[in-house]
Amino acid sequence: MSEIAVLGAGYVGLTTAVCLSSLGHSVVVSDVNHGKIASLNDGKCPIFEESLEELLQQCIEESRIRFISNNCDAVKDSDYVFLCLPTPEGELGEADMQFVLSVIDEVRTHLRSGAIVITKSTVPIGASADVFKRIGRDDVSYVSNPEFLREGTAVQDFLDPDRIVIGSTSDKAASRVGMLYSRISAPIVYTDPISAETIKYASNSFLATKLSFINGLASVCEVVGADADEVLRGMGMDTRIGESYLRPGPGWGGSCFPKDTKALLMTSDARGFDFGLLRSVIDANSRHIDRISQRLNSMLDKESDDRCIALLGLAFKAGTDDLRDSPAVEIARRLHRFGISVRAFDPAISDLSRWGLAEEIRVCGSASEAVQGASVVAVLTEWPEFQQIDPSSLGQLMKRRVVFDGRLLLARRDWESAGFTYVGVGRQ
Ligand code: UDX
Repeated sequence: MSEIAVLGAGYVGLTTAVCLSSLGHSVVVSDVNHGKIASLNDGKCPIFEESLEELLQQCIEESRIRFISNNCDAVKDSDYVFLCLPTPEGELGEADMQFVLSVIDEVRTHLRSGAIVITKSTVPIGASADVFKRIGRDDVSYVSNPEFLREGTAVQDFLDPDRIVIGSTSDKAASRVGMLYSRISAPIVYTDPISAETIKYASNSFLATKLSFINGLASVCEVVGADADEVLRGMGMDTRIGESYLRPGPGWGGSCFPKDTKALLMTSDARGFDFGLLRSVIDANSRHIDRISQRLNSMLDKESDDRCIALLGLAFKAGTDDLRDSPAVEIARRLHRFGISVRAFDPAISDLSRWGLAEEIRVCGSASEAVQGASVVAVLTEWPEFQQIDPSSLGQLMKRRVVFDGRLLLARRDWESAGFTYVGVGRQ
Protein backbone atom coordinates (compact mmCIF):
# COMPACT_ATOMS: atom_id res chain seq x y z
CA MET A 1 0.00 0.00 0.00
CA SER A 2 1.46 3.40 -0.91
CA GLU A 3 1.71 6.35 1.46
CA ILE A 4 -1.05 8.91 1.13
CA ALA A 5 -0.71 12.55 2.20
CA VAL A 6 -3.80 14.45 3.37
CA LEU A 7 -3.34 18.22 3.58
CA GLY A 8 -5.86 19.78 5.97
CA ALA A 9 -7.18 18.02 9.09
CA GLY A 10 -10.59 19.66 9.17
CA TYR A 11 -13.89 17.85 9.00
CA VAL A 12 -13.32 16.45 5.48
CA GLY A 13 -9.56 15.91 5.81
CA LEU A 14 -9.72 14.07 9.10
CA THR A 15 -12.56 11.80 8.01
CA THR A 16 -10.78 11.10 4.70
CA ALA A 17 -7.42 10.38 6.37
CA VAL A 18 -8.78 8.10 9.09
CA CYS A 19 -11.08 6.19 6.72
CA LEU A 20 -8.34 5.70 4.07
CA SER A 21 -6.04 4.49 6.84
CA SER A 22 -8.73 2.10 8.10
CA LEU A 23 -8.81 0.67 4.56
CA GLY A 24 -5.16 -0.34 5.03
CA HIS A 25 -3.32 2.65 3.58
CA SER A 26 -0.45 4.37 5.34
CA VAL A 27 -1.48 8.02 5.74
CA VAL A 28 0.34 11.17 6.81
CA VAL A 29 -1.80 14.19 7.68
CA SER A 30 -0.55 17.75 7.75
CA ASP A 31 -2.29 20.76 9.27
CA VAL A 32 -1.03 24.21 10.29
CA ASN A 33 -2.83 23.95 13.64
CA HIS A 34 -0.14 22.50 15.92
CA GLY A 35 -2.55 22.03 18.82
CA LYS A 36 -4.88 19.98 16.67
CA ILE A 37 -1.96 17.90 15.38
CA ALA A 38 -0.76 17.22 18.93
CA SER A 39 -4.17 16.06 20.14
CA LEU A 40 -4.64 13.91 17.02
CA ASN A 41 -1.31 12.16 17.66
CA ASP A 42 -2.66 11.47 21.16
CA GLY A 43 -5.69 9.82 19.57
CA LYS A 44 -8.07 12.64 20.48
CA CYS A 45 -10.53 13.71 17.82
CA PRO A 46 -11.33 17.48 17.75
CA ILE A 47 -14.66 16.86 16.00
CA PHE A 48 -17.47 14.55 17.06
CA GLU A 49 -18.30 12.02 14.34
CA GLU A 50 -19.72 8.56 15.08
CA SER A 51 -16.85 6.00 15.41
CA LEU A 52 -14.20 8.42 14.06
CA GLU A 53 -12.22 8.54 17.30
CA GLU A 54 -12.16 4.75 17.75
CA LEU A 55 -11.01 4.32 14.14
CA LEU A 56 -8.34 7.01 14.68
CA GLN A 57 -6.99 5.24 17.78
CA GLN A 58 -6.97 1.88 16.05
CA CYS A 59 -4.99 3.28 13.08
CA ILE A 60 -2.52 4.97 15.43
CA GLU A 61 -2.01 1.67 17.28
CA GLU A 62 -1.36 -0.06 13.98
CA SER A 63 1.00 2.81 12.99
CA ARG A 64 -0.92 3.49 9.81
CA ILE A 65 -1.55 7.17 10.41
CA ARG A 66 0.60 10.04 11.65
CA PHE A 67 0.04 13.76 12.01
CA ILE A 68 2.57 16.51 11.33
CA SER A 69 2.56 20.26 10.72
CA ASN A 70 4.60 20.44 7.55
CA ASN A 71 2.95 20.15 4.13
CA CYS A 72 6.25 19.70 2.27
CA ASP A 73 7.37 16.85 4.52
CA ALA A 74 3.96 15.26 4.13
CA VAL A 75 4.08 15.14 0.33
CA LYS A 76 7.73 14.27 -0.26
CA ASP A 77 7.23 10.47 0.11
CA SER A 78 3.61 10.32 -1.05
CA ASP A 79 2.23 9.04 -4.34
CA TYR A 80 -1.20 10.51 -3.53
CA VAL A 81 -1.82 14.00 -2.14
CA PHE A 82 -5.39 14.77 -1.04
CA LEU A 83 -6.20 18.47 -0.82
CA CYS A 84 -8.75 18.82 2.01
CA LEU A 85 -8.32 22.52 2.58
CA PRO A 86 -10.97 25.11 3.43
CA THR A 87 -12.78 26.66 0.45
CA PRO A 88 -14.90 29.27 2.28
CA GLU A 89 -17.55 31.34 0.53
CA GLY A 90 -15.97 34.26 -1.34
CA GLU A 91 -17.42 37.81 -1.55
CA LEU A 92 -19.41 37.01 -4.67
CA GLY A 93 -20.63 33.66 -3.32
CA GLU A 94 -18.18 31.42 -5.19
CA ALA A 95 -15.81 29.09 -3.24
CA ASP A 96 -12.58 30.88 -2.30
CA MET A 97 -9.51 29.02 -3.60
CA GLN A 98 -6.85 31.03 -1.75
CA PHE A 99 -5.94 28.23 0.73
CA VAL A 100 -5.83 25.55 -1.96
CA LEU A 101 -3.66 27.62 -4.31
CA SER A 102 -1.26 28.79 -1.60
CA VAL A 103 -0.67 25.20 -0.44
CA ILE A 104 -0.03 24.12 -4.03
CA ASP A 105 2.53 26.91 -4.39
CA GLU A 106 4.15 25.71 -1.16
CA VAL A 107 4.42 22.00 -2.04
CA ARG A 108 4.74 22.12 -5.85
CA THR A 109 8.48 21.45 -5.99
CA HIS A 110 8.30 18.83 -3.22
CA LEU A 111 5.79 16.61 -4.99
CA ARG A 112 7.20 13.26 -6.01
CA SER A 113 7.49 12.54 -9.71
CA GLY A 114 4.46 10.47 -10.71
CA ALA A 115 2.42 11.75 -7.77
CA ILE A 116 -1.30 12.46 -8.12
CA VAL A 117 -2.87 15.57 -6.56
CA ILE A 118 -6.46 14.83 -5.59
CA THR A 119 -8.96 17.57 -4.71
CA LYS A 120 -11.45 16.45 -2.07
CA SER A 121 -12.46 19.99 -1.01
CA THR A 122 -15.44 21.51 -2.78
CA VAL A 123 -13.89 23.77 -5.42
CA PRO A 124 -15.69 25.95 -7.99
CA ILE A 125 -16.69 24.21 -11.21
CA GLY A 126 -13.76 24.49 -13.60
CA ALA A 127 -11.20 25.09 -10.81
CA SER A 128 -9.42 21.88 -11.78
CA ALA A 129 -7.83 23.67 -14.75
CA ASP A 130 -6.47 26.40 -12.43
CA VAL A 131 -5.19 23.84 -9.95
CA PHE A 132 -3.48 21.79 -12.65
CA LYS A 133 -1.91 24.92 -14.13
CA ARG A 134 -0.74 25.98 -10.67
CA ILE A 135 0.90 22.60 -10.09
CA GLY A 136 2.69 23.20 -13.37
CA ARG A 137 4.44 19.82 -13.61
CA ASP A 138 4.09 17.30 -16.42
CA ASP A 139 5.14 14.45 -14.13
CA VAL A 140 2.30 15.13 -11.66
CA SER A 141 -1.33 14.26 -12.44
CA TYR A 142 -4.53 15.78 -11.10
CA VAL A 143 -7.83 14.17 -10.05
CA SER A 144 -11.08 15.65 -8.76
CA ASN A 145 -12.62 13.36 -6.10
CA PRO A 146 -15.45 15.30 -4.42
CA GLU A 147 -16.79 14.22 -1.02
CA PHE A 148 -20.45 13.56 -0.14
CA LEU A 149 -20.06 13.40 3.64
CA ARG A 150 -22.98 14.42 5.85
CA GLU A 151 -22.26 15.81 9.32
CA GLY A 152 -23.05 13.17 11.90
CA THR A 153 -22.67 10.23 9.48
CA ALA A 154 -19.35 11.13 7.82
CA VAL A 155 -17.55 7.83 8.52
CA GLN A 156 -20.47 5.74 7.28
CA ASP A 157 -20.85 8.01 4.23
CA PHE A 158 -17.14 7.56 3.42
CA LEU A 159 -16.94 3.79 3.94
CA ASP A 160 -20.36 2.95 2.55
CA PRO A 161 -21.08 5.59 -0.11
CA ASP A 162 -23.75 5.44 -2.79
CA ARG A 163 -21.04 6.20 -5.33
CA ILE A 164 -17.47 7.46 -5.66
CA VAL A 165 -16.80 10.18 -8.21
CA ILE A 166 -13.38 10.45 -9.87
CA GLY A 167 -12.75 13.12 -12.46
CA SER A 168 -9.49 13.25 -14.41
CA THR A 169 -8.08 13.86 -17.88
CA SER A 170 -5.68 10.95 -17.30
CA ASP A 171 -7.28 7.48 -17.30
CA LYS A 172 -4.17 6.09 -15.62
CA ALA A 173 -4.36 8.59 -12.75
CA ALA A 174 -8.10 8.00 -12.42
CA SER A 175 -7.73 4.23 -12.14
CA ARG A 176 -4.84 4.56 -9.66
CA VAL A 177 -7.06 6.73 -7.44
CA GLY A 178 -9.92 4.28 -7.95
CA MET A 179 -7.68 1.52 -6.58
CA LEU A 180 -7.37 3.41 -3.26
CA TYR A 181 -11.05 2.63 -2.75
CA SER A 182 -10.80 -1.00 -3.87
CA ARG A 183 -12.01 -2.30 -0.49
CA ILE A 184 -15.19 -0.20 -0.72
CA SER A 185 -18.00 -1.88 -2.62
CA ALA A 186 -19.57 1.13 -4.33
CA PRO A 187 -19.83 2.07 -8.01
CA ILE A 188 -17.19 4.53 -9.23
CA VAL A 189 -18.23 7.23 -11.68
CA TYR A 190 -15.16 7.95 -13.84
CA THR A 191 -15.55 11.24 -15.66
CA ASP A 192 -13.72 14.46 -16.51
CA PRO A 193 -12.78 16.92 -13.72
CA ILE A 194 -15.39 19.55 -14.60
CA SER A 195 -18.20 17.00 -14.61
CA ALA A 196 -16.94 15.64 -11.28
CA GLU A 197 -17.02 19.12 -9.74
CA THR A 198 -20.47 19.72 -11.22
CA ILE A 199 -21.83 16.44 -9.75
CA LYS A 200 -20.97 17.73 -6.27
CA TYR A 201 -22.73 21.08 -6.65
CA ALA A 202 -25.64 19.58 -8.59
CA SER A 203 -26.26 16.88 -5.94
CA ASN A 204 -26.36 19.33 -3.04
CA SER A 205 -28.44 21.80 -5.03
CA PHE A 206 -30.92 19.12 -6.04
CA LEU A 207 -31.33 18.00 -2.42
CA ALA A 208 -31.89 21.63 -1.41
CA THR A 209 -34.44 21.94 -4.24
CA LYS A 210 -36.27 18.88 -2.95
CA LEU A 211 -36.35 20.37 0.54
CA SER A 212 -37.53 23.79 -0.56
CA PHE A 213 -40.35 22.07 -2.42
CA ILE A 214 -41.24 19.96 0.64
CA ASN A 215 -41.22 22.97 2.94
CA GLY A 216 -43.34 24.92 0.45
CA LEU A 217 -45.71 21.99 0.21
CA ALA A 218 -45.94 21.96 4.02
CA SER A 219 -47.19 25.55 3.81
CA VAL A 220 -49.76 24.47 1.21
CA CYS A 221 -50.91 21.74 3.62
CA GLU A 222 -51.35 24.39 6.33
CA VAL A 223 -53.60 26.54 4.14
CA VAL A 224 -55.67 23.72 2.62
CA GLY A 225 -56.00 21.81 5.90
CA ALA A 226 -54.01 18.72 4.85
CA ASP A 227 -51.57 16.90 7.12
CA ALA A 228 -48.04 17.19 5.67
CA ASP A 229 -46.97 13.99 7.43
CA GLU A 230 -49.68 12.00 5.62
CA VAL A 231 -49.12 13.78 2.31
CA LEU A 232 -45.36 13.17 2.37
CA ARG A 233 -45.86 9.55 3.42
CA GLY A 234 -48.12 9.07 0.42
CA MET A 235 -45.64 10.85 -1.87
CA GLY A 236 -42.55 9.03 -0.60
CA MET A 237 -43.93 5.62 -1.54
CA ASP A 238 -43.53 6.60 -5.16
CA THR A 239 -40.06 5.22 -5.86
CA ARG A 240 -39.50 8.04 -8.36
CA ILE A 241 -39.82 10.51 -5.46
CA GLY A 242 -38.27 8.39 -2.68
CA GLU A 243 -38.57 8.84 1.07
CA SER A 244 -35.29 10.58 1.80
CA TYR A 245 -35.08 14.36 2.16
CA LEU A 246 -38.85 14.44 2.43
CA ARG A 247 -39.12 15.74 6.00
CA PRO A 248 -40.34 19.33 6.38
CA GLY A 249 -38.53 21.52 8.86
CA PRO A 250 -37.66 25.13 9.71
CA GLY A 251 -35.64 25.35 6.47
CA TRP A 252 -32.38 23.83 5.27
CA GLY A 253 -28.97 25.04 6.50
CA GLY A 254 -25.53 23.87 7.51
CA SER A 255 -22.06 24.59 6.17
CA CYS A 256 -22.72 23.16 2.71
CA PHE A 257 -26.19 23.56 1.22
CA PRO A 258 -26.28 27.38 1.55
CA LYS A 259 -22.68 27.72 0.29
CA ASP A 260 -22.98 25.21 -2.56
CA THR A 261 -26.34 26.41 -3.89
CA LYS A 262 -25.09 30.00 -3.94
CA ALA A 263 -21.83 28.94 -5.64
CA LEU A 264 -23.68 27.03 -8.36
CA LEU A 265 -25.96 30.00 -8.94
CA MET A 266 -22.96 32.36 -9.15
CA THR A 267 -21.16 30.07 -11.58
CA SER A 268 -24.24 29.76 -13.78
CA ASP A 269 -24.77 33.54 -13.77
CA ALA A 270 -21.09 34.21 -14.50
CA ARG A 271 -21.21 31.83 -17.48
CA GLY A 272 -24.36 33.42 -18.88
CA PHE A 273 -27.14 31.09 -17.75
CA ASP A 274 -29.84 32.48 -15.46
CA PHE A 275 -30.62 29.46 -13.27
CA GLY A 276 -33.91 30.96 -12.10
CA LEU A 277 -35.18 27.76 -10.50
CA LEU A 278 -32.14 27.51 -8.22
CA ARG A 279 -32.50 31.19 -7.33
CA SER A 280 -36.11 30.55 -6.30
CA VAL A 281 -35.02 27.49 -4.24
CA ILE A 282 -32.66 29.69 -2.24
CA ASP A 283 -35.24 32.49 -1.91
CA ALA A 284 -37.94 30.00 -0.92
CA ASN A 285 -35.75 28.75 1.92
CA SER A 286 -35.27 32.21 3.41
CA ARG A 287 -38.97 32.97 2.94
CA HIS A 288 -39.79 29.72 4.75
CA ILE A 289 -37.61 30.76 7.69
CA ASP A 290 -39.39 34.14 7.75
CA ARG A 291 -42.79 32.46 7.63
CA ILE A 292 -41.99 30.21 10.59
CA SER A 293 -40.65 33.21 12.55
CA GLN A 294 -43.84 35.19 11.84
CA ARG A 295 -46.00 32.23 12.82
CA LEU A 296 -44.20 31.91 16.15
CA ASN A 297 -44.37 35.66 16.68
CA SER A 298 -48.15 35.64 16.10
CA MET A 299 -48.57 32.85 18.69
CA LEU A 300 -47.23 35.26 21.29
CA ASP A 301 -49.50 38.15 20.30
CA LYS A 302 -51.80 37.54 23.25
CA GLU A 303 -49.00 38.16 25.69
CA SER A 304 -48.81 41.53 27.41
CA ASP A 305 -45.17 42.48 27.92
CA ASP A 306 -42.87 39.58 28.82
CA ARG A 307 -43.26 37.53 25.65
CA CYS A 308 -41.12 34.44 26.07
CA ILE A 309 -40.52 31.41 23.83
CA ALA A 310 -38.54 28.22 24.44
CA LEU A 311 -36.75 26.68 21.45
CA LEU A 312 -35.90 22.98 21.55
CA GLY A 313 -32.95 22.61 19.19
CA LEU A 314 -30.49 25.16 17.75
CA ALA A 315 -28.18 22.95 15.65
CA PHE A 316 -28.93 22.93 11.91
CA LYS A 317 -29.80 19.25 12.25
CA ALA A 318 -29.71 16.53 14.88
CA GLY A 319 -26.46 14.66 15.51
CA THR A 320 -24.24 17.72 15.32
CA ASP A 321 -23.31 20.79 17.38
CA ASP A 322 -22.92 22.88 14.24
CA LEU A 323 -24.81 26.20 14.21
CA ARG A 324 -23.42 27.40 10.88
CA ASP A 325 -26.36 28.71 8.81
CA SER A 326 -28.75 26.99 11.19
CA PRO A 327 -32.40 27.95 10.45
CA ALA A 328 -33.14 27.56 14.17
CA VAL A 329 -30.59 30.25 14.95
CA GLU A 330 -31.97 32.48 12.17
CA ILE A 331 -35.45 32.10 13.65
CA ALA A 332 -34.15 32.86 17.16
CA ARG A 333 -32.49 36.03 15.87
CA ARG A 334 -35.73 37.21 14.22
CA LEU A 335 -37.77 36.48 17.36
CA HIS A 336 -35.26 38.44 19.41
CA ARG A 337 -35.65 41.35 16.99
CA PHE A 338 -39.45 41.14 17.53
CA GLY A 339 -38.75 41.83 21.22
CA ILE A 340 -39.38 38.25 22.34
CA SER A 341 -37.12 36.73 24.98
CA VAL A 342 -35.68 33.54 23.55
CA ARG A 343 -34.59 30.61 25.72
CA ALA A 344 -33.22 27.44 24.15
CA PHE A 345 -32.14 23.93 24.97
CA ASP A 346 -30.06 21.84 22.58
CA PRO A 347 -28.35 18.67 23.88
CA ALA A 348 -25.22 19.47 21.85
CA ILE A 349 -24.97 23.17 22.75
CA SER A 350 -23.97 24.54 26.15
CA ASP A 351 -22.25 27.81 25.29
CA LEU A 352 -23.23 30.36 22.65
CA SER A 353 -20.49 32.93 23.24
CA ARG A 354 -18.20 31.48 20.55
CA TRP A 355 -21.11 31.91 18.12
CA GLY A 356 -21.74 35.50 19.25
CA LEU A 357 -25.31 34.63 20.19
CA ALA A 358 -25.27 34.97 23.98
CA GLU A 359 -27.09 38.34 23.76
CA GLU A 360 -29.98 37.03 21.69
CA ILE A 361 -30.49 33.54 23.07
CA ARG A 362 -30.38 32.28 26.66
CA VAL A 363 -29.09 28.72 26.43
CA CYS A 364 -30.48 26.37 29.09
CA GLY A 365 -29.36 23.00 30.40
CA SER A 366 -32.65 21.18 29.90
CA ALA A 367 -36.03 21.48 28.24
CA SER A 368 -37.65 22.07 31.65
CA GLU A 369 -35.33 24.97 32.35
CA ALA A 370 -35.92 26.43 28.89
CA VAL A 371 -39.73 26.46 29.16
CA GLN A 372 -39.81 28.23 32.55
CA GLY A 373 -42.31 31.09 32.11
CA ALA A 374 -42.55 30.61 28.34
CA SER A 375 -45.90 30.64 26.54
CA VAL A 376 -44.73 28.74 23.48
CA VAL A 377 -42.29 25.86 23.07
CA ALA A 378 -41.00 25.17 19.52
CA VAL A 379 -39.11 22.09 18.31
CA LEU A 380 -36.66 23.21 15.60
CA THR A 381 -34.05 20.40 15.55
CA GLU A 382 -35.03 16.77 15.23
CA TRP A 383 -33.21 15.43 18.31
CA PRO A 384 -34.84 12.05 19.11
CA GLU A 385 -34.83 12.83 22.84
CA PHE A 386 -37.44 15.53 22.26
CA GLN A 387 -39.89 12.72 21.47
CA GLN A 388 -39.43 11.40 25.02
CA ILE A 389 -40.44 14.67 26.71
CA ASP A 390 -43.47 14.33 28.98
CA PRO A 391 -45.79 17.17 27.87
CA SER A 392 -47.78 17.27 31.09
CA SER A 393 -44.76 17.87 33.32
CA LEU A 394 -43.40 20.41 30.85
CA GLY A 395 -46.77 22.17 30.66
CA GLN A 396 -46.83 22.78 34.41
CA LEU A 397 -43.76 25.00 34.04
CA MET A 398 -45.20 27.19 31.30
CA LYS A 399 -47.29 30.38 31.30
CA ARG A 400 -49.41 29.08 28.41
CA ARG A 401 -49.31 25.69 26.71
CA VAL A 402 -48.65 26.19 23.02
CA VAL A 403 -46.31 23.85 21.13
CA PHE A 404 -44.95 24.35 17.60
CA ASP A 405 -43.69 21.12 16.09
CA GLY A 406 -41.15 22.39 13.55
CA ARG A 407 -39.99 18.91 12.58
CA LEU A 408 -43.24 16.91 12.85
CA LEU A 409 -41.51 14.94 15.57
CA LEU A 410 -44.07 15.00 18.41
CA ALA A 411 -47.12 12.84 19.07
CA ARG A 412 -49.84 15.45 18.56
CA ARG A 413 -52.46 13.59 20.60
CA ASP A 414 -50.20 13.28 23.68
CA TRP A 415 -49.49 17.00 23.68
CA GLU A 416 -53.13 17.94 23.12
CA SER A 417 -54.31 15.64 25.93
CA ALA A 418 -51.74 17.39 28.16
CA GLY A 419 -53.60 20.63 27.50
CA PHE A 420 -51.38 22.01 24.72
CA THR A 421 -52.51 23.84 21.63
CA TYR A 422 -50.55 21.97 18.99
CA VAL A 423 -49.49 23.48 15.66
CA GLY A 424 -46.77 22.26 13.37
CA VAL A 425 -45.00 22.79 10.08
CA GLY A 426 -47.42 21.50 7.48
CA ARG A 427 -50.20 21.22 10.03
CA GLN A 428 -52.83 23.72 11.13
C1 UDX B 1 -24.85 17.91 3.01
C2 UDX B 1 -24.95 16.82 1.95
O1 UDX B 1 -25.98 15.89 2.32
C3 UDX B 1 -23.61 16.07 1.85
O2 UDX B 1 -23.70 15.10 0.82
C4 UDX B 1 -22.53 17.09 1.52
O3 UDX B 1 -21.27 16.45 1.40
C5 UDX B 1 -22.46 18.15 2.59
O4 UDX B 1 -23.75 18.80 2.71
P1 UDX B 1 -24.94 18.13 5.62
O5 UDX B 1 -24.62 19.56 5.40
O6 UDX B 1 -24.29 17.39 6.73
O7 UDX B 1 -24.63 17.29 4.25
O8 UDX B 1 -26.51 18.11 5.88
P2 UDX B 1 -27.73 17.16 5.47
O9 UDX B 1 -27.83 16.01 6.39
O10 UDX B 1 -27.72 16.90 4.02
O11 UDX B 1 -28.96 18.17 5.79
C6 UDX B 1 -28.93 19.45 5.16
C7 UDX B 1 -30.10 20.27 5.69
O12 UDX B 1 -31.33 19.70 5.22
C8 UDX B 1 -30.20 20.31 7.20
O13 UDX B 1 -30.59 21.62 7.61
C9 UDX B 1 -31.32 19.32 7.51
O14 UDX B 1 -32.03 19.62 8.72
C10 UDX B 1 -32.22 19.53 6.31
N1 UDX B 1 -33.09 18.37 6.05
C11 UDX B 1 -32.52 17.20 5.63
C12 UDX B 1 -34.46 18.51 6.20
O15 UDX B 1 -34.95 19.57 6.57
N2 UDX B 1 -35.27 17.45 5.90
C13 UDX B 1 -34.76 16.26 5.49
O16 UDX B 1 -35.54 15.33 5.24
C14 UDX B 1 -33.34 16.12 5.36
